[in-house]
Amino acid sequence: MKAQLAKLGLFDARVPRYTSYPTAPHFGGGVDSTLFARWISRIPRGAEISLYVHVPFCRRLCWFCACRTQGTQTDRPVAAYVDTLKSELRMLAQHLPHGVRLSRLHWGGGTPTLLQPAMIEDLAQAIKQVAPFTGHTEFSVEIDPNEIDAPRLDALAAAGMNRASVGVQDFNEDIQRSIGRLQGYDVTRWAVDEIRARGVASLNADILYGLPHQSKARITESVQKLLSLNPDRVALYGYAHVPWMAKRQQMIPSDALPRPDERLDLFETARKLFVWDNYDEIGIDHFATKDDRLSFAARNGSLRRNFQGYTDDTSEVLVGLGASSISKFPQGYAQNAPATSAYTKAIRAHGFATVRGHGFSPQDRLRARMIEMLMCDFRIEIAELVRDYGASEPDVRAMLNRASAQFENLLEVDATGLFVPPEARPLTRMVARSFDAYELSSAGHSSAI
Ligand SMILES: C[S@@+](CC[C@H](N)C(=O)[O-])C[C@H]1O[C@@H](n2cnc3c(N)ncnc32)[C@H](O)[C@@H]1O
Ligand code: SF4
Repeated sequence: MKAQLAKLGLFDARVPRYTSYPTAPHFGGGVDSTLFARWISRIPRGAEISLYVHVPFCRRLCWFCACRTQGTQTDRPVAAYVDTLKSELRMLAQHLPHGVRLSRLHWGGGTPTLLQPAMIEDLAQAIKQVAPFTGHTEFSVEIDPNEIDAPRLDALAAAGMNRASVGVQDFNEDIQRSIGRLQGYDVTRWAVDEIRARGVASLNADILYGLPHQSKARITESVQKLLSLNPDRVALYGYAHVPWMAKRQQMIPSDALPRPDERLDLFETARKLFVWDNYDEIGIDHFATKDDRLSFAARNGSLRRNFQGYTDDTSEVLVGLGASSISKFPQGYAQNAPATSAYTKAIRAHGFATVRGHGFSPQDRLRARMIEMLMCDFRIEIAELVRDYGASEPDVRAMLNRASAQFENLLEVDATGLFVPPEARPLTRMVARSFDAYELSSAGHSSAI
């Protein structure tokens, strides 16, 4: 099987993770603040929307990290940034139709937990004034176990946090040293216990495969340590080594990185351990306990994909606030200025900070849904595409047959659609790419495995 996967180019390809379609590198200048404001004003009155808030600061800058973030040792830039977010929220309130409430609120980064308790309270309050919580709003926060303490957790819990995600990456100290992120097991254990003690219903942990010096034995040990913390969800991401973009990664010894076929072994080793421990597999890189909402969604076909990865959120609108954040509307995507300085300047000039995006064509909507189905369910259902997207059945069939031929009949095609069987799942992102009509530049995409 490995030989066939290699022949199909799995180990050479650089393929997007398809958290959007088209992917962000294909956004263009056609979407600006005026269009963003118009899309906001078209949200139906009383609708439930989701909100993402980006905090682009960290106290430590881990070498492996490819996220857009900047280091700061003082609170001054953070406090100024929170003020800018509040200005953005006030502008949002001016355009948002009456009665809009929050389905999901997510704070990500960077490190949102470097906000002081008073800032957490202030920001949460400002958000709720613009779009209040409902009785079932999910409020999730990305928590760096090294950058959290009891007062900040208290403030988050008081603000309504009921989901959390902690960054682990790997528990092995040699590996941690080589990726510039030291974090003892006790530190992670403390954070997890304290988060749970505050009634958080679902706890996610991020770990990575494909790190320098990682072996099957080491990833086994790390996964076992992680399992001892009983996370409800796990994201098992492939380490993306892109030192030409994320300059800090130049500190990481490339010659200590596992080869692509070894990466596949590492993923498989970790995957089996989660499955043996009774976790459900969610899409290409997540695991969840059987009673977690993500598992329900995967079982009943309502799993979705957005910029944060897998979700059971079915809101039509996700508004991204802060530098570099991306919003999704039924009409298209809109992205804020990526640099904090440019974002701040735009908001202080009393405008939104949208700089690029993409308006959907009917073809985009069809292909976006095909790719989402693959990434979530490993299956493309022709009937749904014909019913909900106005697709022509013969055209869809022709697309599926072309994909099947390209992957040497590893995929199953029948009267209902296309299915990726378990042994071909390492190819899922490549199959998704075969439905991507936009030309893919190699820069910025992580490898297929
Ligand atoms: C933006 S970080 C925020 C987490 C938080 N600041 C922390 O350090 O715990 C979210 C996740 O992105 C993932 N990530 C960052 N850089 C990555 C890379 N180069 N390849 C794959 N995943 C990466 C890590 O798993 C990380 O936990
Ligand atoms: S992993 Fe988290 S703490 Fe480390 S640089 Fe990335 S965002 Fe910052």
